[in-house]
Amino acid sequence: MSMAAVPQKLDSRYLEALGPLRPLVDDDSLTEIMVNGPEMVYVERKGKILLTDIRFDDEAHLMRVIDTIGAAVGRRIDSRTPLMDARLLDGSRVNAAIPPVALDGPILTIRKFSKDPYQVSDLIGFGTMTQEAAAFIQACVLARANILVSGGTGTGKTTLLNVCSGFIPIDERIVTIEDAAELQLHQEHVCRLEARPADVNGEGRIAIRELVINSLRMRPDRIVVGECRGGEALDMLQAMNTGHDGSLTTIHANSPRETLSRLETLVLMAGLDLPLKAIRQQIAGAIDLVIQLSRLKDGSRKVVSVTEIIGMEGEMITVQEIFKFESRGADPSTGKIIGDFEPTGIRPRIIDRLFDMGIPLPPRLAQIFPDRRQVGVATEKNGHLSGVA
Ligand SMILES: Nc1ncnc2c1ncn2[C@@H]1O[C@H](COP(=O)(O)OP(=O)(O)OP(=O)(O)O)[C@@H](O)[C@H]1O
Ligand SMILES: [Mg+2]
Repeated sequence: MSMAAVPQKLDSRYLEALGPLRPLVDDDSLTEIMVNGPEMVYVERKGKILLTDIRFDDEAHLMRVIDTIGAAVGRRIDSRTPLMDARLLDGSRVNAAIPPVALDGPILTIRKFSKDPYQVSDLIGFGTMTQEAAAFIQACVLARANILVSGGTGTGKTTLLNVCSGFIPIDERIVTIEDAAELQLHQEHVCRLEARPADVNGEGRIAIRELVINSLRMRPDRIVVGECRGGEALDMLQAMNTGHDGSLTTIHANSPRETLSRLETLVLMAGLDLPLKAIRQQIAGAIDLVIQLSRLKDGSRKVVSVTEIIGMEGEMITVQEIFKFESRGADPSTGKIIGDFEPTGIRPRIIDRLFDMGIPLPPRLAQIFPDRRQVGVATEKNGHLSGVA
């Protein structure tokens, strides 16, 4: 059975088998369940980690629950293969690590599947990004920009990738490629591919990289890769540089600069022994935009930068920041970080493409960055620049 099966409503026998986890799996207000051995069960709610009073009888009890979770989706875990990626039948992503690699007993981590994934309006409501930045990103997606969503663990990369993918027009053919299918696109014309680990005999592994290469033969209008974390980075860059524009992916990095060096490292993992300059040229030619996520001290997840990759100067990739989050410290009463997410005032290169394609800019950006050709026309006609929005 494929792990990427459409999420099911959990039947009572399955829920029963989840034992002490059942009320947590049922509770839609939780985003994460973290079991550290039989006696410590943590949950995350609204970005805060809480210790619950839930207990397993003993280690063997916890192991039985982990076995059940794996067995239901055809995955196994034992002391020889002590790590397991799996999924609950409702679609939640599961990871288990057991002894001997887990030193203090089995560790189970469940990222709860959201039945109702965050929409762009939710992210704006949380203050993750502004309406204006969202409108700019939407325009870039429509203009088929190649976009990297970058951030550390749990910063909201997959969620933002899902939102960005939601901007893809419904008449385009989308191929999604993931390690564990998490994306929930609302479009109809979506082909979902999921990688798979080797079976118990060490055979049958299908890596993300193979799926990326295969997707190119599937007449994609867009390729959406859940996360780039290996040699598939090279294949993605090559695809982006050879006409498969408008691709989206995420990458694990803490700043736009780090994103670029991480991408270099990933391309090297493809094992082709390319000179660094050639790799950088591929990156500079392929990637248009890096959207950087960060988790602030108050637990909130924020887009802290939107950065454009503009080309090469000598050996270096040149970038320019289009939007930037500037913190003004924490509110003394609530502890919430206050700050502004504002355009830096640098004119995005992609704007000309937006104008060419007739894609409207958010109003304030249109005011700051008028269409130069219209400016030219207005100058000829009127001899001055007033009245040009
Ligand atoms: N902007 C946001 N504001 C608040 N909560 C969010 C936001 N984005 C995501 N979340 C929540 O944070 C958790 C992690 O989100 P997500 O899976 O998108 O992160 P990620 O960076 O892809 O994580 P990982 O590194 O594990 O792949 C989820 O429970 C999700 O619902
Ligand atoms: Mg993710």
